[in-house]
Amino acid sequence: MKGVILAGGLGTRMLPMTRVTNKHLLPVYDRPMIYYPLQQLVHAGIRDILVVTGGDSAGDFLKLLRNGHDFGLEHLRYAYQEGEGGIAEALGLAEYFAGGEPIAVLLGDNIYQNPLKEAVDAFRRSSSGAMILLKEVEDPERFGVATVDGDRVVEIVEKPTHPVSRLAVTGCYLYDPRVFDVIQTLRPSGRGELEITDVNNRYIEWGEMQHHVVSGWWTDAGTVESLRRASNLVAQDRGNVVLNAPTTS
Ligand code: DAU
Repeated sequence: MKGVILAGGLGTRMLPMTRVTNKHLLPVYDRPMIYYPLQQLVHAGIRDILVVTGGDSAGDFLKLLRNGHDFGLEHLRYAYQEGEGGIAEALGLAEYFAGGEPIAVLLGDNIYQNPLKEAVDAFRRSSSGAMILLKEVEDPERFGVATVDGDRVVEIVEKPTHPVSRLAVTGCYLYDPRVFDVIQTLRPSGRGELEITDVNNRYIEWGEMQHHVVSGWWTDAGTVESLRRASNLVAQDRGNVVLNAPTTS
């Protein structure tokens, strides 16, 4: 399985902090935001990783992460998203990289307390269809929200005004290679983006979506308030096995 980290977008919710840098290079407690998804993928045993970024600071990712040696990797790959056409558009840039293999996708501003390895391993065993990771939250209207019936995800609604559950769809997605065919068929949403929720709903329609509920805390770090929360959570959790995974600097 290969890994993809989506770190494009213009970070407009975080201006002026993102005027001269990319959101994913901002610090979350003691390290740049992009370290967290990278450490998660490495901890899950994924060695072939693509970072999709964009904007004016894309070169800074190369300066920071270089070939990934600090993370125990032999190499890292990069792709450039022009503009801000949505998460699914950014993922579409990974098609050549995936080369027909299943992929683990992480949003660059999502931070998980516990390892994602268990979910990744479960998906590795089936390697077909898709898997999403859910977490109960207090403010579901900020996220994609899942309706679950018994063991089955029935639907996901992106940022509903009146959420039907508190189960947020977190920013870790596992897909078989058909994901790239699905992306080709998408049309921009009301906010002008190719939505990852539309991709996930397609797998739900096919009856091929698994889900897993995340243990431990999970947060995004894509708003001023959630960035503060993320820093606090990380600061309180310094024995964390993922965060202490192999970085040499
Ligand atoms: O955090 C989880 C949520 O992330 C999910 O619950 C939602 O279903 C999903 O749509 C997404 O919601 P946001 O609106 O908060 O996503 P945002 O626009 O902040 O983008 C999240 C990450 O995706 C961002 O850190 C970088 C990457 N991204 C985003 C866009 C719009 C890209 O790489 N390119 C893009 O064009």
